[in-house]
Amino acid sequence: MTLEFTPMAGSHAIEVKGIEGVPLAPADTRQLQEAFEQSALLVIRDLELTNESHIAFTRAFGDLVIHPLEFLRHRDNPEIIELSTSPEEPLAEDDPTADEIVAYSGWHTDLTFNPVPSLGGFLRPIEIPPESGYTAYIDAAEVYQALPEATKQKIHGLTVVHSLLDNRAGVPKDADIDFPDEVEAMEEVIHPLVFSHPYNGRPVLFISPTFTRKIVGLSQEASDQLLGELKEFATDERFSYVHIWQPNDLVIWDNWQSIHKGYGHKKKYRRVMHRTTLEGNRNLMDYLM
Ligand SMILES: [Fe+2]
Repeated sequence: MTLEFTPMAGSHAIEVKGIEGVPLAPADTRQLQEAFEQSALLVIRDLELTNESHIAFTRAFGDLVIHPLEFLRHRDNPEIIELSTSPEEPLAEDDPTADEIVAYSGWHTDLTFNPVPSLGGFLRPIEIPPESGYTAYIDAAEVYQALPEATKQKIHGLTVVHSLLDNRAGVPKDADIDFPDEVEAMEEVIHPLVFSHPYNGRPVLFISPTFTRKIVGLSQEASDQLLGELKEFATDERFSYVHIWQPNDLVIWDNWQSIHKGYGHKKKYRRVMHRTTLEGNRNLMDYLM
């Protein structure tokens, strides 16, 4: 059976069907690698994976990252981060916090606080809540194309400081989590605001709103203003594909040319997701535009 690649209506996402299993057939691997290099987002359906085959599938695209935050790592498979905020026991019917939204994460690109940001994320659902828990994705090259010409001129050649600890990776300030020394010691890094994608040449607006701190050479005020305007433009609904999770989905995003966010879900529901992360292999500053 050959693979089917179908653009999803009204969005940049591409649905992939027909993968028979892992290990991948060599022809399927090549087709998927090509699709990955061209697209911001692949939505694979009906692929049954285990932790081991999830890792093996990701290896077909490159080396894997071990996430710097140990508490996120899966106990038996450190290449997997487990995203779970679910209660171990069901909440009581009358728990006043049952409908509070948990696991929300704002718009970001993964690991841009690293000198070489990860190249891709491979996310699959383990437990899906009966409602919500969606994830939204934006194609950041499509956003760049849509920018007004004057803005493209204005941001040409700019670079941006990114860091993790200013927002503790999104972990609430009162959470009882000690960051490891190597994380505390992480230095700020600088990435281009626009770069030419190393694999496909598309110009990308590279903003990771959770981790961007300041545009180099601007005052904090001017930087906040410009990054705020760019974020508002980029995260407009017209660019956003909202993924509603189904069992046996595997969503793959090119982390260099996309931004994503998690909507969160009601606390009374369980939601568990597993992500593997593909290591970046280029210094994006070499592709500054
Ligand atoms: Fe993320």
